[in-house]
Amino acid sequence: MIAYITLLKVIANKGTILSGTSILHHTRRLLIVAGTVMLTAFLLSANIHPVHAQLSRAAPEAPTGQATRPAAPVRSQMVVAAHPLAARAARQMLRDGGTAIDAAIAAQMVLNLVEPQSSGIGGGGFLLYWDAFQQQLLTVDGRETAPAEAGPDRFLNDDGTPIRWPDAVGTGRSIGVPGIVPMLEAVHGEFGRIEWGELFAPAIDLASNGFGVSPRLNLLLTGMGPDAFNEDARNYFFDNTGEARALGEVLKNPALARTLKQIATSGHRALRSGPIAKNIIAAASEPGVATITLNDLRAYESIQRRPVCVPYRSYSICGMGPPSSGGMTVGAILGLLEASDLGDQPNAAAIHMIIEAEKLSYADRNRYMADSDFVDVPAGLLDPDYLEERAQMIDPAQTMGRAEPGTPPDLETTPGTDASDENPGTSHISIIDQFGNAASLTTTIESAFGSRRMVSGFLLNNELTDFSFRPVDEGGRPVANRVEGGKRPRSSMSPTMVFDADGNLWAVLGSPGGSRIILYVVKALVAMIDWNMDPQAASALGTFGSRNGPAELEHGADMDRFASELEALGHEIARPSMTSGLHIIRVTPDGLLGGVDPRREGAAIGD
Ligand code: GLY
Repeated sequence: MIAYITLLKVIANKGTILSGTSILHHTRRLLIVAGTVMLTAFLLSANIHPVHAQLSRAAPEAPTGQATRPAAPVRSQMVVAAHPLAARAARQMLRDGGTAIDAAIAAQMVLNLVEPQSSGIGGGGFLLYWDAFQQQLLTVDGRETAPAEAGPDRFLNDDGTPIRWPDAVGTGRSIGVPGIVPMLEAVHGEFGRIEWGELFAPAIDLASNGFGVSPRLNLLLTGMGPDAFNEDARNYFFDNTGEARALGEVLKNPALARTLKQIATSGHRALRSGPIAKNIIAAASEPGVATITLNDLRAYESIQRRPVCVPYRSYSICGMGPPSSGGMTVGAILGLLEASDLGDQPNAAAIHMIIEAEKLSYADRNRYMADSDFVDVPAGLLDPDYLEERAQMIDPAQTMGRAEPGTPPDLETTPGTDASDENPGTSHISIIDQFGNAASLTTTIESAFGSRRMVSGFLLNNELTDFSFRPVDEGGRPVANRVEGGKRPRSSMSPTMVFDADGNLWAVLGSPGGSRIILYVVKALVAMIDWNMDPQAASALGTFGSRNGPAELEHGADMDRFASELEALGHEIARPSMTSGLHIIRVTPDGLLGGVDPRREGAAIGD
């Protein structure tokens, strides 16, 4: 498998090198044939026969491998991203003297091209930025917003019942005002060292000259099929017989190259006026629905928020506050576990305790967390006394079944119970530069390929399906995460940084994975802090957790060894694919250690 992945990287890289030469055409054919053979070998060797069946609404971003790669320490700077070409573009910026934010922008633009299923300029994200010079942590919200005219009935049928998710995702209802470019530009203005325009060079080069289609992109496109996409996307992602672009095929995206050139020159203004803005508005439109307007595009601003930091063992764990539920929910879970001894390696008793803490925290999350510019999110959810009281509900000898939300100390009104459903799309980039600055960027267009509507070479998000489709619960209480004009849908994205007892940066991490992101990040933190695992082992470790439903043990990841003990404690067990994309950097006395999630196609590289 490792040899296979290496070969893929060579192909992906060659796609760039060979472009523009007279041998390109023949090479392309050879690559397609080789790619098909290799894809078959890959599927067999990775034992992922059910992947096509998994490419349903429930798991649109299925795993594409279970290989593990060794941790690699480097001395000075490191990037971990979801595709080798993105990691390489970021490292180039670091080598040119750029900061972590310069590198993150270069990586994001390349990901837009080579991992279009997960993130891009048509989406949004959350960024943690550690400014080593000022010793200060920033958390920035680049989440998409609902159009100003959107109302709570956006996802309701005429009879008041919620629209089915598949009937909403590929429509203009789902598309929020993109936020990633304005956010990155704002942070770059403060912390970038390389000129804005130069950060786009690697992505423009790859979009113009081509890159090799990866197994994951091919597999997801094959599973999705051409009919799921609008015409621009169909023509780009499929050939004229309706076959997905083949593994290794050199794919060019001249429309994206043009768009990136405009953003390189004019910044995010290129997306809020002129032809690209016009195209976005047209592609997002939907008869009878309040969709994105020019005013919405012009009004968008990223927001600097207060970091959410909680103590855990001797560390401080910092994350993103609302509208993401990530920082608060990760914090609450760790707060509930603070008094528990989780042992020094994975064990059923510890997994039980973690699952129970997750049930309690997800119950609170589902009720109380949403965009804090629109609803009061009680800070008391992280109050130590409140968490201590909630921790008493965890019985080491049996599961609580389903947890109920609590009553935090500063509660003003009790909202209704949420019914939203986030899907496992998204991408995560972790970077530390030579100056000690760090970026933890979780970025998304929501589910695989977002709204599946391509415009000017990029896909528009379906982020608004992260809102609760029901604006009120069965008791008639308004749901905190209901749709409102200008509001940001609740997220689970959990870009995280860990600081040691002296305040030194200790780890940078995050993951894609919809509402399971929180489970993945908690697993990695416990693995590194309690079980003393290196970041690669923490990332590769089989996943477990609960979102206040069954105990989930990752399918095919040797987690069944814990099943009978958990069943004896009363747990109902589910065995889903859990396609995390945990990308981690640990700061150690020996240098920087990377962790790349073996379930996806990422790379950790540095100097
Ligand atoms: N759309 C994934 C998330 O925001 O959590």
